[in-house]
Amino acid sequence: MFFLPFILLFWASATHGHPHELTIRDVTLEQWRALNSSVGGKLHVGVPVARPCFRLAAPGVGGTTNATECSTVRQGWGDSLFLVEHFGAYLNVQWGSCQATEQTCVISGLNSSNPVPSDPPNICQQGSVPPHYIDVRDASDVQKAFAFSKKTGVPLVVKNTGHDYKGRSSAPGSLALWTHNLQQLSYNTSFVPIGCPASHAKPGVTMGAGAIITNIVAFAEANNITVVTGAETSVGASGGWLMGGGHGPLANTYGLGVDRVLEFKIVTPTGDFLTANECQNTDLFWALRGGGGGTFGVVLESTTLASPRVTLQVAFAAFSRNNTNATRGLYEVIVDNSVRWAEQGYGGYIEPNQALYVTPNLNSTESAASMKPLFDYVTSLAPSDPGVKILSMELPSYGAFFQNFIANSGAPVGENAVVGTRLVPAANFNSTASRSALVDALMQTLAHVTFDLTLIATSPYNVPDTGATSVTEAWRTAIWHAVAEGGWDASAPVADQKAAYAGISQAIDFLRAITPDAAYQNEADVNEPNHEVSFWGTNYPRLLQIKKKYDPHNLLSCWHCVGYDPSSPRFSCYI
Ligand SMILES: Cc1cc2nc3c(=O)[nH]c(=O)nc-3n(C[C@H](O)[C@H](O)[C@H](O)COP(=O)(O)OP(=O)(O)OC[C@H]3O[C@@H](n4cnc5c(N)ncnc54)[C@H](O)[C@@H]3O)c2cc1C
Ligand SMILES: *[C@@H]1O[C@H](CO)[C@@H](O)[C@H](O)[C@H]1NC(C)=O
Ligand SMILES: *[C@@H]1O[C@H](CO)[C@@H](O)[C@H](O)[C@H]1NC(C)=O
Ligand SMILES: *[C@@H]1O[C@H](CO)[C@@H](O)[C@H](O)[C@H]1NC(C)=O
Ligand SMILES: *[C@@H]1O[C@H](CO)[C@@H](O)[C@H](O)[C@H]1NC(C)=O
Ligand SMILES: *[C@@H]1O[C@H](CO)[C@@H](O)[C@H](O)[C@H]1NC(C)=O
Ligand SMILES: *[C@@H]1O[C@H](CO)[C@@H](O)[C@H](O)[C@H]1NC(C)=O
Ligand SMILES: *[C@@H]1O[C@H](CO)[C@@H](O)[C@H](O)[C@H]1NC(C)=O
Ligand SMILES: *[C@@H]1O[C@H](CO)[C@@H](O)[C@H](O)[C@H]1NC(C)=O
Ligand SMILES: *[C@@H]1O[C@H](CO)[C@@H](O)[C@H](O)[C@H]1NC(C)=O
Repeated sequence: MFFLPFILLFWASATHGHPHELTIRDVTLEQWRALNSSVGGKLHVGVPVARPCFRLAAPGVGGTTNATECSTVRQGWGDSLFLVEHFGAYLNVQWGSCQATEQTCVISGLNSSNPVPSDPPNICQQGSVPPHYIDVRDASDVQKAFAFSKKTGVPLVVKNTGHDYKGRSSAPGSLALWTHNLQQLSYNTSFVPIGCPASHAKPGVTMGAGAIITNIVAFAEANNITVVTGAETSVGASGGWLMGGGHGPLANTYGLGVDRVLEFKIVTPTGDFLTANECQNTDLFWALRGGGGGTFGVVLESTTLASPRVTLQVAFAAFSRNNTNATRGLYEVIVDNSVRWAEQGYGGYIEPNQALYVTPNLNSTESAASMKPLFDYVTSLAPSDPGVKILSMELPSYGAFFQNFIANSGAPVGENAVVGTRLVPAANFNSTASRSALVDALMQTLAHVTFDLTLIATSPYNVPDTGATSVTEAWRTAIWHAVAEGGWDASAPVADQKAAYAGISQAIDFLRAITPDAAYQNEADVNEPNHEVSFWGTNYPRLLQIKKKYDPHNLLSCWHCVGYDPSSPRFSCYI
């Protein structure tokens, strides 16, 4: 089934007044059929994941009402491992909706059993879920899609897991390339990047673009090695996470994802299937190491450095979430000690009522001694707070750490989430006055967030900048990537949605005021001011040149990505 009339109608109105974009020429049923047959029948209709729960659907929306499937969706709504299996699911759900027109097909993230959002008069609408997608299996599938988009003007998007916070893996009326089913994993103890001399051999894990963290960690554990990943189960490790930087619990000592990648296999918009590594297509390799996903081509696989299994020291301290008076004291003790902890290799995650730290560089005695100020402070709260917990432990591997501390503590998904970030450099910790200003700014930020403030201590502080990556240089001197998070439930009015974006910007402004312009592109404010400098520092001009070389017709474009054109109708759903 094709839903051509809907697509044409939508784009006829959406493209009006935007002369820069390739206009959609008449895409005939024949052309869609030809595309489908050229990719061996792997063209599918993109259906919003909650469609089975809606009795009513707008014309052109695929799928059917189905109580059995609806109950599966309600159970899986908050579970990222469920959502990434579905093409029509976006984990931060507003990116499957069209915010500007309030067209949506979502259920409640607060209570997924609540029938109201999916009951009449509410209608399941396509929103920003791409109406068509190709289930990518090889380079040819991608080459066919680039040729089709160039010919017809139908915009392309690349979707992997759908975790993006800025809507970069969806667009109204688009054709999506879904890389989820590229799941293969292999380990080579002496991987040589293609075209490099044998002396370049290093242990490497090669992964399909769709491989998700939980499977990669299990694979590494089974092979008795360490592979650096993010701190969530189902983010992809070769897509947006990697190309945007890729932080994780071990990044302080082992580097970001971009520091460790050895090779990419990629189809560029020029139609070429290329290998990019330190011996060939080196400009592209550099651009892919931080320039961002969805920009330079479609990655089919990447190979990342593997390290020996490593023993880790873990420290955890928490008090009751409602004990809000204790937060300032927690921030003070953490600010006082954070530079030292960074130098000792700790990665960490600090919430208003808890801190989790992990390092591969100390033994258990050293770690307990290093964390004493934190433990002393939290212990001092115990007489009046029954929620105090202190934990200091040694674990035999990253896999064990992941299983115990990450796997079951995923960030909430199935919500309309908005985030803002700031990289906070060591300079903010270097005097009594600057530390006190920092604690004040954190308290003000916290007072303005509706959901949470997380101080993510996972910068590559001990991994020098060799010019090999294109993320902002500010990552190397940062102690934290501070993330403020807010949002709204189900289909709040557009005014409330705008207020949520403005609110998160204002919250992070307190940190902006005392730090240089630097932010993490993957967890950034959708309205990040000066984003080219914030995400890429001095690297932007060269990234733009490389973008033009590999994508001369701008077939790939996404929000605040290198070379993006804000007037493109593909962004018509942003508010
Ligand atoms: C719950 C949660 C936890 C997170 N935890 C972390 C964390 O610990 N560390 C961290 O660094 N980040 C984390 N993030 C942020 C994460 O890095 C971004 O959401 C990132 O965009 C996810 O990439 P993806 O490919 O999985 O998702 P998608 O939304 O599918 O894609 C994101 C972007 O990458 C592009 N892309 C995807 N695949 C490809 C490909 N094969 N070729 C070319 N372009 C591609 C897309 O076009 C899009 O622009 C988290 C996000 C969430 C929602
Ligand atoms: C593409 O072809 C396959 C196999 O013939 C078919 O199952 C599928 O429904 C087609 N896709 C679309 C969008 O019609
Ligand atoms: C509903 O979905 C289930 C599971 O996919 C399927 O077995 C069943 O046939 C569907 N029911 C109807 C009425 O389509
Ligand atoms: C969620 O919604 C269902 C259905 O309306 C209701 O029965 C249930 O009590 C709600 N749960 C919570 C925690 O509010
Ligand atoms: C590992 O890579 C080397 C160098 O490319 C190659 O010769 C060898 O066959 C590979 N081993 C495996 C098990 O794939
Ligand atoms: C696993 O790796 C560690 C660290 O390299 C090594 O000491 C240990 O012997 C290995 N174990 C096995 C079973 O190979
Ligand atoms: C926090 O909540 C617990 C119960 O969950 C209660 O016993 C305690 O008094 C509360 N503390 C504060 C500071 O409100
Ligand atoms: C928290 O601090 C405020 C202001 O200092 C004080 O009035 C209040 O009693 C404190 N609450 C608790 C639970 O200690
Ligand atoms: C930890 O390392 C210190 C040296 O810094 C050493 O004195 C101590 O014995 C070690 N402790 C353990 C438990 O290995
Ligand atoms: C502290 O940071 C400021 C701002 O970067 C810098 O000017 C100053 O030299 C630093 N001082 C010390 C003692 O490191």
